Amino acid sequence: MTILVTGGAGYIGSHMVLELLDAGEQVIVLDNLSTGFRWAVPSHVPLIVGDFGDEELVSRILREHQVSAIIHFAAKIVVPESMADPLTYYLNNTAKARNLIACAVAARIEHFIFSSTAAVYGEPQSNPVSEDEMLKPINPYGRSKWFVEMMLEDVARATGLRHVVLRYFNVAGADPQGRSGQSTPDATHLIKVAVQAALGFRPGMDVFGTDYPTRDGSCERDYIHVSDLVRAHMDALRYLRAGGPSLVCNVGYQKGYSVLDVIKMVKSVAGVDFPVHLSGRRAGDPAVIVASNARIKSTLNWQPQHNDLQTIVRQALDWERRLHNRRGED
Ligand code: UFG
Repeated sequence: MTILVTGGAGYIGSHMVLELLDAGEQVIVLDNLSTGFRWAVPSHVPLIVGDFGDEELVSRILREHQVSAIIHFAAKIVVPESMADPLTYYLNNTAKARNLIACAVAARIEHFIFSSTAAVYGEPQSNPVSEDEMLKPINPYGRSKWFVEMMLEDVARATGLRHVVLRYFNVAGADPQGRSGQSTPDATHLIKVAVQAALGFRPGMDVFGTDYPTRDGSCERDYIHVSDLVRAHMDALRYLRAGGPSLVCNVGYQKGYSVLDVIKMVKSVAGVDFPVHLSGRRAGDPAVIVASNARIKSTLNWQPQHNDLQTIVRQALDWERRLHNRRGED
């Protein structure tokens, strides 16, 4: 039985494909290559270039490849972009996900794992934030994912499709074996930007906001290694296969670092200094968001193995160097 990975040519999806292959699973990737790369998918894995919202295409894939589970990564993921262009987020992340879920139901797929986000919490009342916290997203990105969570909840009640929703905190780092990493050329995420500044691929960077009510005035986030994140999906798959009921879990380390902490770490690991400009706040940013990870540890038996910011930064730096040397491949 095959696992369909949407967005499997992207940053997190490509790590998932490697993890599934390492576990001996059969995989097929559906990706429109809008931000993903053909080279990120191992050559023996079938890659279908197309849209996960295309019901005809998806139904054919599910049928022809005897898909037993779907892991759905494909999405737009940039918070400020969602503020500027909300409808694109509702189309891509919400409306198309509805089509994918409809295909899954029609094909009687039983297991669905969904990439949700800490952004569904908005500005939490307290941290670490648990899954039972009231959801109050403060940007369209978070709302676009929350709608899908609600759809899955309703569909699970009405059909045999069981799901695990994983609410990712700030994903960073790269495959420890150097096989994949964050490769988007115009990436806006903090560790990627800082690493590029450290390697001289950009002249410097901005800190968006130094007047937040935090230790040092910059925003605090829970940075989680991409390999630990994809292992959470393997744990979720095992859980669903064992008959576990639908579930929502945070995926984070329950530890916050400020933007200034992260920049300091990148400078120290890279052994270089680079210009940092203290700028105004970025729209849509909560001050602090840190995961409670009690539920994922107890229900999925998830055990993080790379919970160390220094390691995350070192591997992000290694990947960025490697990526620079391979520029030009599609
Ligand atoms: N930041 C900077 N300078 C930069 C880039 C980012 O100061 O050049 C700051 C941001 O303002 C924010 C923090 O670094 O305070 C982290 O920003 P990212 O863009 O790296 O990530 P976000 O926190 O905005 O969003 C990410 C994911 C979401 C997830 C969220 C949960 O993209 O899916 O983390 O915290 F929901």
